[in-house]
Amino acid sequence: MKAEVLLFLSMRVLHVVLAAIWFGAVFFNTLFLAPVVMQTGPAGGQVMTALVRKGMVAFMASVGGMTIVTGVYLFWRFTGGFDPAVSASRAGMAYSIGALAGLIALILGGSVMGRSAKRIVALGEQMSSAPEAQQSGMVNEMSALKGRMTSTGKIVLGLLFIALATMALGHYV
Ligand code: HEM
Repeated sequence: MKAEVLLFLSMRVLHVVLAAIWFGAVFFNTLFLAPVVMQTGPAGGQVMTALVRKGMVAFMASVGGMTIVTGVYLFWRFTGGFDPAVSASRAGMAYSIGALAGLIALILGGSVMGRSAKRIVALGEQMSSAPEAQQSGMVNEMSALKGRMTSTGKIVLGLLFIALATMALGHYV
């Protein structure tokens, strides 16, 4: 097998595996983990803190980023070096729509979800030493951030579903 074909096949496998991890993690976080964290109050906050300390924010950003990077390579190869005629074909459009959805999902994931998760952890750490008068404000901010994460998570999940569906159909439309 030629080295170039081997590279393409390896990148394709990597792209699909990364996309599966990304979609699966967002699916689980949004539909199972986030509602449980919301329901369980301080215990949920402790779970979130442990997940952030374990590197969940960086992990999600890396998986999303690598999915996009491998996707750009696949798109470059599919379009023969971004040939406008191939890019404007139905398949090219399908992959472009999916790519845009994936890119927005990555940006929202980092700017809203990741940042909110880190802020929740920081608030949790400051809470015990903060004066009592400030604590209720901190609790309110935390629950607002958790709500924001849940609603943004649903948008990210929807965008990743669009990406997955258009990628799966790309060669057949
Ligand atoms: C910049 C972002 C992305 C670009 C440019 C891109 C591009 C591509 C291209 C060109 C292919 C077809 C490769 C080929 O056979 O020639 C592909 C396949 C695939 N992509 Fe993406 N992709 C991106 C992001 C994503 C995301 C976010 C997901 C899902 C979360 C995803 C899931 C998949 C899957 C599952 C396939 C395999 C489809 C099949 O075998 O029928 N991709 N991608």
